[in-house]
Amino acid sequence: MGRGSGFGKAILFGEHFVVYGLPGIVSAIDLIAEAEVKSIGDGITISDERKGAKGYTEKKRTQQKEAIERMLENMGINSEKRALEIWLGGNLPGFSGIGASAASSVAIAKAIAEEFRMNLSIERINEIAYEAEKAYAGTPSGIDNTAATYGGLIWFIRNLSGGPSKIERLSIKKPVRIVIGNTGIVANTKGMIAAVAKRKKANPEKYDLVFNQAKSLIFEARRALEDFDLVRVGRLMNENHGLLQEIEVSCKELDYLVNRARERGAIGAKLTGGGGGGCMVALTPGRELQEAVATAMEGEGFRVLRTKTGINRRYEENDQIRNRISRL
Ligand code: MEV
Repeated sequence: MGRGSGFGKAILFGEHFVVYGLPGIVSAIDLIAEAEVKSIGDGITISDERKGAKGYTEKKRTQQKEAIERMLENMGINSEKRALEIWLGGNLPGFSGIGASAASSVAIAKAIAEEFRMNLSIERINEIAYEAEKAYAGTPSGIDNTAATYGGLIWFIRNLSGGPSKIERLSIKKPVRIVIGNTGIVANTKGMIAAVAKRKKANPEKYDLVFNQAKSLIFEARRALEDFDLVRVGRLMNENHGLLQEIEVSCKELDYLVNRARERGAIGAKLTGGGGGGCMVALTPGRELQEAVATAMEGEGFRVLRTKTGINRRYEENDQIRNRISRL
């Protein structure tokens, strides 16, 4: 049996803009998807035991199948060898926006590689997971699979000519608590990306302006994070949410949670990931503030994750976390 795992993530700055070559800042979170793969049986069977938003697994099933086919193709595993039993689990819930698909693809790619004794480098695993992301996102930037593969806090710039993207590890003074709030809506990332492309084409002046603002905001956000100026980081997160509203990827449920987080004292809040449902992320340094924001949302029936950004976990530790979890 082969086993593997991949990190969940929260994009702090730059989702959607990153698809067009602008930088993005992504933080892996301390929750992982796990996979086990056995090369037996007839065809491919998937048993997906991840806990998630209602309907997540069903809605993603077709894309998941395509993702696995794409990975097998890319790994050169031919159809005779495609008798696989795949199990998916871990403590990363199936919510939209937190990289559940990318984390599962990384986990599956590693598990397949282990089962077939392929001894692949981590860079190669990232490439394979990127191939899988195309099934979920159409034209993904690669930011989600990169966070899922490497962990930590990453400055990411997509290479629009197809070469390797820029992946730079950022470090901040100390980890900061964040709250991820889930609208409960399973979003279609592929549809969201395609809709932005269509609007951008139809309205180039407006979109050029917003994209220029996004670019300087993201560079400023990097400086604010490196200076550990959390108030500035929070303000920029709020502004980033405004730009995402301008390109119409937010929705009333996301705006509601973002406002709720700010009312309860979060120093910044924005949607995270593809939008159109899924999750928001709030910057809530200190246990007390994190609790206040998280419990306010839970009190209204929303599901939340309490986690941190800036934990410098590396992919090697991934397997240690996995072992800890499986012993619980
Ligand atoms: C999704 O988590 C982030 C998007 O920017 C898509 C991508 O970059 O692949 C919406």
